[in-house]
Amino acid sequence: MAKLGVCYYPEHWPQSRWQEDAAAMAEMGITYVRIGEFAWSRLESSPGNYSWDWLDTAIATLGDAGLEVVLGTPTATPPRWLIKQHPEILALDADGRPRKFGSRRHYCFSSELYRNLACRFVEQMARRYGENPYVVAWQTDNEYGCHDTTVSYSDAATKAFRLWLAKRYGAIEDLNQAWGTVFWSQEYDDFDDIDPPNLTVTEANPAHQLDFRRFSSDQVVAFNRAQVEILRQYAPDRDILHNFMGFETSFDHFDVSADLDVASWDSYPLGFLDQGWFDEDTKARFQRQGHPDFAAFHHDLYRACGDGRFWVMEQQPGPVNWAPHNPAPLNGMLRLWAWECFAHGGEVTSFFRWRQAPFAQEQMHAGLLRPDGTPDTGAAEVAQIAMELKSLELPESTRGDVALMLDYDAVWNLEIQPQGREFSFLRWAFDIYQSLRERGLNVDILAPHHALDGYKALILPCQPYVSDALADRFKNFKGKALIGPRSGSKTRDFSIPDHLAPGPLRDLLGLSVVRVESLSPGRVEAVQIGNTQYDAVLWREHLETDNPVLGRFTGDFHSGSPALVQNGNFRYLACLASKPLLDKIIMDFCEWSEIEMVPTLNEVRIRRRGELQFAFNYGAGPTEAPAPAGAEFLLGSRTLPAAGVAAWTVR
Ligand code: GAL
Repeated sequence: MAKLGVCYYPEHWPQSRWQEDAAAMAEMGITYVRIGEFAWSRLESSPGNYSWDWLDTAIATLGDAGLEVVLGTPTATPPRWLIKQHPEILALDADGRPRKFGSRRHYCFSSELYRNLACRFVEQMARRYGENPYVVAWQTDNEYGCHDTTVSYSDAATKAFRLWLAKRYGAIEDLNQAWGTVFWSQEYDDFDDIDPPNLTVTEANPAHQLDFRRFSSDQVVAFNRAQVEILRQYAPDRDILHNFMGFETSFDHFDVSADLDVASWDSYPLGFLDQGWFDEDTKARFQRQGHPDFAAFHHDLYRACGDGRFWVMEQQPGPVNWAPHNPAPLNGMLRLWAWECFAHGGEVTSFFRWRQAPFAQEQMHAGLLRPDGTPDTGAAEVAQIAMELKSLELPESTRGDVALMLDYDAVWNLEIQPQGREFSFLRWAFDIYQSLRERGLNVDILAPHHALDGYKALILPCQPYVSDALADRFKNFKGKALIGPRSGSKTRDFSIPDHLAPGPLRDLLGLSVVRVESLSPGRVEAVQIGNTQYDAVLWREHLETDNPVLGRFTGDFHSGSPALVQNGNFRYLACLASKPLLDKIIMDFCEWSEIEMVPTLNEVRIRRRGELQFAFNYGAGPTEAPAPAGAEFLLGSRTLPAAGVAAWTVR
């Protein structure tokens, strides 16, 4: 059963108001209330001086009103006294400057001292509330990585990095070999001589950088795990979650999620459209809706992270404060976003925040209530969703049509040596995702370790390092696969493989990449498929192959060289693609995989959940739901207004 939630900060409001708030939440149809995640200074005002009374009361007030509490550990906000006592727990930026107190997330993941202090606090909190009947779930910290905080160059990080390297390589000679440190006389005698890869004169060794990124990701995992272990001990049978972000790739979310029960994420579609890479036309068309594939992409990603279980922990409730520009959503968008989450299998949509704060950094960020406590426009929408949820039974989610493999290591690899500045893993993967969704397909996102069985179609957007284990699993894959450029082009240690790209995929793909080049934005290379010409952009590879060629480069330069080739049930694409080229490749690939597509959706998106088919109108005007004649609508109707939602049963 899908449910609604809200984020609440009792410490921001007089106690005399709490009961009224709790009653109004319950009345609105809200089930979950997340609290506590930034409240450290009010819970421990000086070392060891705890004040739990107010939180006891807040939890009791919410619980007595019939609400269920998600309690956040406030470790994203170590208070001033803690920093005064232990300034060494601050993170250092790449220029070696401390990230000072005065906002949030100022701690360094590698500080053992901070980890212990954080755990000490979490233990106190868990002892007190672990078995509280109203506290049904816990959130660890808040948005790991937010404000660019995964990587820190502190002394603590330096020390921990050296230990991490010693453990990974065992002998310093092996590290020298792996990193290729003979180049530019970078050889090391001792792990203790290795620094983080910042403040070098020019580009640091890429293998050094990649290991530092992997190490930094592992530090997030370890920090989270330390909290989870305490919570498991004192809060038995409670779900443990973390709230991940949109378009955030600085640590491996699959690894962190392995210790959680549920992956949750914070969905701010308008803010991410405005600050994102999208073109002006897209930004203008969807300024009040958000990109039609933004939320869906993250629902599918975090469903994968949570092994099927995900929530939206924070849903944008109106204009936010942090994007360059902050428009208000169309009326109906909160409802659309919530239903889209449920259509993708989400268990909970929780809105951020209950009431707009009149003070401090986020005073311009809307809530469901205005700063004066009166309902803002989102409040009525939330009540409507709650009503609708009561009357609609949601079936189990089923497997998607297409699997799209995402790998965080690939993101870091390409960030370290993009070779063409605009080559972005995330953007390319998102473009592919969008193209699939525009054809009405349900996408399952997979990590490299996930099982491939049962999928008719698999897409690997671009994965420089392909392990032998993954290559072996591809060999046994029975469906059709599309492999993107640069896949298999690097070893684990960031070198070019002995027999060139695609490395361990060479036999499977039956080709060899003999040269690569990148192109400035705006320059294109013609690619012909059938009788039609398309444009490759930003990246082009030169292949040698004896296999069937489905598309060729046809410009003046090396005319006739293969752009899209096929070997058995695998296809390989030797470029990045303009939208028309990508759409053509995706369409042909889906046909070849015998997957049914929907011809014209325009600004509508659809998603299946079991035998329920949902449709969402991201357009600014009314349109029709792509439902068969005689379809029985359980939500909405055939006419879909702007921000409209419909659902009907399919067999
Ligand atoms: C999230 C964060 C919240 C709040 C919100 C504002 O990134 O978790 O605490 O800052 O953004 O949109």
